[in-house]
Amino acid sequence: TWTPDNIIEEQVARIREQVGDKQVICGLSGGVDSAVAAALVHKAIGDQLTCIFVDHGLLRAGEAEQVEKDYVAATGIRLKVVDASEQFLGHLAGVTDPEQKRKIIGREFIRTFEQAARELDAERHIEFLVQGTLYPDVVESGGGTGTANIKSHHNVGGLPDDLQFALIEPLRTLFKDEVRALGAELGLPEEMVQRHPFPGPGLAIRIIGAVDRERLDILRSADLIAREELAASGLDREVWQFPVVLLADVRSVGVQGDGRTYGHPVVLRPVSSEDAMTADWSRLPYDLIAKISNRITNEVREINRVVLDVTSKPPGTIEWE
Ligand code: XMP
Repeated sequence: TWTPDNIIEEQVARIREQVGDKQVICGLSGGVDSAVAAALVHKAIGDQLTCIFVDHGLLRAGEAEQVEKDYVAATGIRLKVVDASEQFLGHLAGVTDPEQKRKIIGREFIRTFEQAARELDAERHIEFLVQGTLYPDVVESGGGTGTANIKSHHNVGGLPDDLQFALIEPLRTLFKDEVRALGAELGLPEEMVQRHPFPGPGLAIRIIGAVDRERLDILRSADLIAREELAASGLDREVWQFPVVLLADVRSVGVQGDGRTYGHPVVLRPVSSEDAMTADWSRLPYDLIAKISNRITNEVREINRVVLDVTSKPPGTIEWE
């Protein structure tokens, strides 16, 4: 019978056999798949694993710290953090086109990861790369396996020829809920294990307009409030994803206290879905929506209007970009 225990035991044995005494790396994204895959490999081979976390500066409030502190504390994994936010934001400056944003982020991610992997490889010769590929990913991509190409959350291409690693994919036969169960069993932080899916390009595709630090901070504050209130309502698991989108180039007139305001709107985009291929807008209780709206307009100075997206997918997509 399937239990997290059995799977862990079986995978640990398999990984030990595959790896022997060789060195392994794994890229962490902040998401549940890579976090569980790495924890599993760490349980099998301990310090032969080194993780790399590229902080692109586009994560939500607290998520980089979750990886750097809570995750490391929970697992004891050796982690190399690359703070690349300066670099990412530099390349994103002034860019408004969604696909252009994705391209830049994908390219910079690969560059940065490659550089970090190269440095590690020089220190201790690396033979294997861990990937958090799930069963649905395997089916979608035709079932092939192979050598390293970072099929990361950015859907980018392969590593250069002089950086070829064999793959370890301990989650290849599992579905998302099974991966969550493994993560819990492995003692990972609850917020990480239960995290909603989050796009690789991060908050960059939830700012409609150009991305900069100030706009990211505004969106982070609003997004945190929405997440806090959703969690407090106990409806977290009813919702597939809850993007908060900043319409950074739109302003509208408002009134607060006895002053006129001229601020930005944010869009609340809670959706229900099975697989993200189709989705419906979540019928969250109005009281919850009201609470989120009040808190955002009270606590985030730059935002004076909150709107609710009531579009299904299709014709809308989950993300606004
Ligand atoms: P859409 O917006 O197309 O999103 O309905 C479907 C799912 O995919 C996620 N998404 C992305 N994930 N890189 C990713 O890793 C991306 O560029 C990207 N764009 C959208 C989105 O969050 C949703 O779960």
